[in-house]
Amino acid sequence: MDFIRSVPVLGLVLLVCAVGLNLAEQEVENLSGLSNNPDKNIFAIRENGTTCLMAEFSAKINVPYEVPSSNEVDWDPEEATIQLPRDTEIKGKCWNNESELHLSWLDKSYTLKLFFVKDAQDSTKSTGKSWKMSKVQFLYDPTERTYFKAGARPGKHTATSHHLSLMKTPVGMSYECEASERVSLISSDQKKTVVLFLSEVHIQPFDIKSDFVFSEDYKCLTDQRKQLEETLPLILGITLGLAIVIILAVYHIHHKMTANQVQIPRDRSLYKHMG
Ligand SMILES: *[C@@H]1O[C@H](CO)[C@@H](O)[C@H](O)[C@H]1NC(C)=O
Ligand SMILES: *[C@@H]1O[C@H](CO)[C@@H](O)[C@H](O)[C@H]1NC(C)=O
Ligand SMILES: *[C@@H]1O[C@H](CO)[C@@H](O)[C@H](O)[C@H]1NC(C)=O
Repeated sequence: MDFIRSVPVLGLVLLVCAVGLNLAEQEVENLSGLSNNPDKNIFAIRENGTTCLMAEFSAKINVPYEVPSSNEVDWDPEEATIQLPRDTEIKGKCWNNESELHLSWLDKSYTLKLFFVKDAQDSTKSTGKSWKMSKVQFLYDPTERTYFKAGARPGKHTATSHHLSLMKTPVGMSYECEASERVSLISSDQKKTVVLFLSEVHIQPFDIKSDFVFSEDYKCLTDQRKQLEETLPLILGITLGLAIVIILAVYHIHHKMTANQVQIPRDRSLYKHMG
């Protein structure tokens, strides 16, 4: 009797859960068409009707592996170069202080995962809160023949970064870096080093204020330096110009003063004549 009465309640609970899940449902908007660079991915992940993670970047992954040598005894080293395609299945997780990005392609043969964290609230620190990329994982299988040659040892491998702290950005801002950034990953395949290159990066995994719009940019050091290098000749030019003006002015004043001094004897001779 009690059980039968609780059935509708159970149904209601399930319905509420389903609605709850539905609310958190995710949409991924593919905006890659906005870029002329065919290697650049641009997308926005939306939850509850607003953007919670937005990213633009191109990624290239170098994976060392081995194929049997012609003597059929040794193994020859090879390197696969994998350009992240635009045709990827994208999934994200947007939490309050942790975000994740999973990009899979070729029927999930390859998956690149990027992890972001926001610093734990720490009132003792005066530096203010920031977010960073804390981990990278790349899942691959060298028997998949799009990027790997025949004969590679089979096996699903995971390459993972260690102690990563990249893209450190003040909370509420987006990270931007034109320059290429290199991330080393250690593979489960004989601890080989897989290298991920990220370039033309613009990412914001937290606190996006308005839908589809990056918050204020925080430029990486390389870009800041490049900007300085570009403006430095201008600054030097202005400084040099100012120096020349000052030298000319000093020379002019000096010339006037010495000219005045030269005039004094002439005046004296005049006095002499008068005398
Ligand atoms: C979306 O709404 C769900 C349910 O209300 C909530 O758990 C989740 O944190 C929200 N997501 C974001 C990104 O605000
Ligand atoms: C995203 O858009 C680009 C450019 O229009 C297209 O080439 C790519 O296949 C799309 N990706 C997905 C997953 O649909
Ligand atoms: C995220 O927040 C939860 C509780 O709000 C906390 O337990 C956890 O340590 C936080 N994680 C990070 C990486 O700060």
